[in-house]
Amino acid sequence: MLNIHHIAKTFNPGAITEKVALVDVELHLAPGDFVTVIGGNGAGKSTTLNAVAGTFLVDKGFIEIDGVDVTRLPEHKRAKYLGRVFQDPMTGTAASMSIEENLALALRRGQRRSPLRWGVTKAEKDSFREALSTLELGLENRMTSKVGLLSGGQRQALTLLMATLRKPRLLLLDEHTAALDPKTAAKVLGLTRKLIRDNHLTAMMVTHNMKDALQYGNRTIMMHEGRIILDIGADAKERLKVDDLLQMFEQASGSGLNNDRMLLG
Ligand SMILES: Nc1ncnc2c1ncn2[C@@H]1O[C@H](COP(=O)(O)OP(=O)(O)OP(=O)(O)O)[C@@H](O)[C@H]1O
Ligand SMILES: [Mg+2]
Repeated sequence: MLNIHHIAKTFNPGAITEKVALVDVELHLAPGDFVTVIGGNGAGKSTTLNAVAGTFLVDKGFIEIDGVDVTRLPEHKRAKYLGRVFQDPMTGTAASMSIEENLALALRRGQRRSPLRWGVTKAEKDSFREALSTLELGLENRMTSKVGLLSGGQRQALTLLMATLRKPRLLLLDEHTAALDPKTAAKVLGLTRKLIRDNHLTAMMVTHNMKDALQYGNRTIMMHEGRIILDIGADAKERLKVDDLLQMFEQASGSGLNNDRMLLG
């Protein structure tokens, strides 16, 4: 489903600000895989997701999504394969627009001409109402409210729904619950799992919470200095505790974990 074949990325090569972000990343996801991604600060987690999304082109290797070689495709041409949610609840939605307008925009993403010119149709409203009710946040009764009035958790839930509305081949989540309080984060994570299951999506989720990394998904990969140093399957995940994971990390990397948020979490 996703083939990342020996990719490498150095930012600002030759400059004093040169930064080797990805040394050699090799990863293959089967359809329906839900992989959680952990690792220290600067390990290359976000860069790996960005490489898949085409935020920049990689220096080496290739990337295939569902059999399509996207290595040289610019970001906007890959967008149709992907759903993305970032950490900041403010970035995924348009605050000054209503819930239904945001959903309509997500549905018509990539359409050439002013996508909201014809307004939101009755059929769309009905389908949005149904989709929103699955979130169990009561948003189906507030479809004309401005998104700016929603809480961070409600906004992330809506962003998730928008990102999965067109059933992308691959869902990329980069610490999308990190800015939420623990209770809201748990709710949004539960919702994430439900949307991935119901829509049979393949997903990568970066998290700094090792407990969440073990609890969610069927695989966990650990990154360190631009490489994947551990790839843990479903059976092992069920048995492992956070302490085991830390120990495995130290063994595989030969160093302690430098991610304070992970250690505190
Ligand atoms: N656009 C960029 N320009 C220059 N350097 C970058 C860029 N993006 C990432 N880097 C560098 O590449 C390295 C990997 O960064 P990345 O954001 O992938 O880390 P991460 O694993 O997501 O860490 P964190 O847990 O802090 O989010 C870091 O040293 C970072 O500073
Ligand atoms: Mg990151």
